[in-house]
Amino acid sequence: MSRTVRFRLNGLSVESTGPPMRCLLHVLREDFGFTGTKYGCGEGECGACTVLLDGDAVTACLVPVAQVEGRDVVTVEGLAGDPECRELRRAFLEEGAAQCGICTPGMLVAAAAYLGGGGGNDESAIREALAGNLCRCTGYVRIVEAVARAAADEGRPERSGTERPASGHRRES
Ligand code: FES
Ligand code: FES
Repeated sequence: MSRTVRFRLNGLSVESTGPPMRCLLHVLREDFGFTGTKYGCGEGECGACTVLLDGDAVTACLVPVAQVEGRDVVTVEGLAGDPECRELRRAFLEEGAAQCGICTPGMLVAAAAYLGGGGGNDESAIREALAGNLCRCTGYVRIVEAVARAAADEGRPERSGTERPASGHRRES
């Protein structure tokens, strides 16, 4: 069975025709060439494929393309022009938060969701927001510091306890 799904991708109206249960990750990489969205585990465990769906961080390997009908998808490439994400990328560079780089696009998207939801520079809140993203290189300290720095650079207040925004990742059902 084939179906045409229409949605917004990085600000543009697009359509994809194919099996409705095909995962969004493959559609993004193979049909649209957005290879910044990485294939890691394919099982929703590593966060390498994280994208924004209506502003929430989701793992694209678990999202059937039919579920994005009429919705707004943003990949790491779509964040390039966003001033907040520019700050985030700069902080990643300056803090040495990327080593092999495989996890970095997913981390940036999850961090963008966290900051976009009003997240501040509280370490435990940042760790919670990035809990769905695995990194085998950095030990996470520099990544957390980079996100905290981006939050602080934007003058966000320190948050703690119940003020924390929810974890950046959401599973589509
Ligand atoms: S590829 Fe690992 S969570 Fe999607
Ligand atoms: S920088 Fe290599 S997995 Fe994170």
